Amino acid sequence: MQNLVSMRQVNKDEILRLIDLAAQIEQGKIKPDLSGKLGALLFFEPSTRTLFSFDTAIKRMGGNSIVMAGAGSTSVKKGESLADTLMTINQYADFIVMRHKVEGAARLATEVVDIPVINAGDGTNQHPTQAMLDLYSIFKTQGTLQNLTIAMIGDLRLGRTVHSLAQALSEFNPTFYFASPGHLQMPRYIKDELRAKNVRFEEVEDIKPIIPKLDVMYVTRIQKERFAVLEDYEKVKDAYIITPDVLTRVKDNFVLMHPLPRVNEITTDVDKERYAYYFQQARNGVFMRQAIISQLLQLV
Ligand code: NCD
Repeated sequence: MQNLVSMRQVNKDEILRLIDLAAQIEQGKIKPDLSGKLGALLFFEPSTRTLFSFDTAIKRMGGNSIVMAGAGSTSVKKGESLADTLMTINQYADFIVMRHKVEGAARLATEVVDIPVINAGDGTNQHPTQAMLDLYSIFKTQGTLQNLTIAMIGDLRLGRTVHSLAQALSEFNPTFYFASPGHLQMPRYIKDELRAKNVRFEEVEDIKPIIPKLDVMYVTRIQKERFAVLEDYEKVKDAYIITPDVLTRVKDNFVLMHPLPRVNEITTDVDKERYAYYFQQARNGVFMRQAIISQLLQLV
């Protein structure tokens, strides 16, 4: 692995190797040394967990970072191109973590620079490091990634995390249920990829009947900022709201995940339930991002 742009480029063995590495880092068995290295965190879109967990991961390994949180204070404001910005950062840093609103921006970055590039989200397309921390979270709670029944609920069209996660899980014989309001279904190209791999999936409207079957429920927010017309957002924003009452008949191993940020799709009284895993999931992100950086920079 030279870059991490899409989950399509990561095979089953590599996924399992990264999970094992993250676990060893979490348990303190491996301490990768990033001292003397500089990571550039270029975030053209807002971020809390991805930006800060990458920065935490870098610093926990003794590395340093330069951070751009929003392009507002950079020469992008003066009309500088993305390619020129990247070419400049290439002169300073040892690797780039980039989030951008344009699909394919991370791929473009790999063509411009000669240091490793990690995609921290490109528009509605991919968010591979989120998928990896989601897989690590699933593995920790289920003891396996194999043969699980997983529901993905919310904005499956414009939300990038579910695209990467569905692709990654497709290597492990899953059964998927997809529930999304309005026109926010899983994109056709993802469903075609799943069909080509003989992955079982069903699109459902009513989530009640499927809840007792689930190992994992993965809820996502409606991507308000990606709607062209605000009225369309208003129509769908309250379609699925998870409360403790919705989840009374769950399996013992059931976990509720969410990449965060949440808006209103999981009520805060769910947080105290034993299956609420989303903040732990965010914590797992630091270990997984340490693992990913370590692999790309060949620290381990
Ligand atoms: C997600 C993202 O940016 O795609 N957030 C994250 O990285 N945890 C989810 C979202 O914004 O809805």
